[in-house]
Amino acid sequence: MSSKKILQFIARFAIPIIIILFIYNIYSHGTIIHPGKALFKAQCSQCHGEDGEGIKALVPPLQNSDYALRNLDSIPCWLKFGINHPVIVHDTVYDQPMYPSEIDEVQTANVINFMNREFFKYDREVNPEWVKEKWKNCK
Ligand code: HEC
Repeated sequence: MSSKKILQFIARFAIPIIIILFIYNIYSHGTIIHPGKALFKAQCSQCHGEDGEGIKALVPPLQNSDYALRNLDSIPCWLKFGINHPVIVHDTVYDQPMYPSEIDEVQTANVINFMNREFFKYDREVNPEWVKEKWKNCK
């Protein structure tokens, strides 16, 4: 076989193999990389920490946050408008402002789903419509 023929032979299988690897990847990881994870890393981790551990008395942890879990319906408003009131996480009071994030409803849903899974260990998926619904009632 000439090298050209060998290449043609391999090329015929390349696309199905890529598709199989792609499907396998989704199957084994849930998604390739959770879009909420990338957003969290870029826009939240500088304060809350890559593992959601927070910063001492300044920034509350997200890891197993009882406060966030109890107030899940308020998270879209917190992200859009910031937080300007004390919060109590794991019996500790935090009172530094959190500034508004400039993220749309899709990004907000993604980052909430990421936190639900990674930090709150809460088996729930929210979607952009839910986020928009919550935004209507922000105080
Ligand atoms: C500039 C630092 C900063 C950034 C960036 C930031 N936060 Fe916060 N976050 C805070 C602070 C400070 C509080 C506590 C507010 C208070 O004490 O009133 C807080 C509180 C929270 C809470 C509620 C308290 C808890 O621990 O459960 C959640 C949930 C949260 N942030 C999520 C996010 C997400 C998601 C992002 C990224 C889109 C983000 N934050 C970006 C500083 C930040």
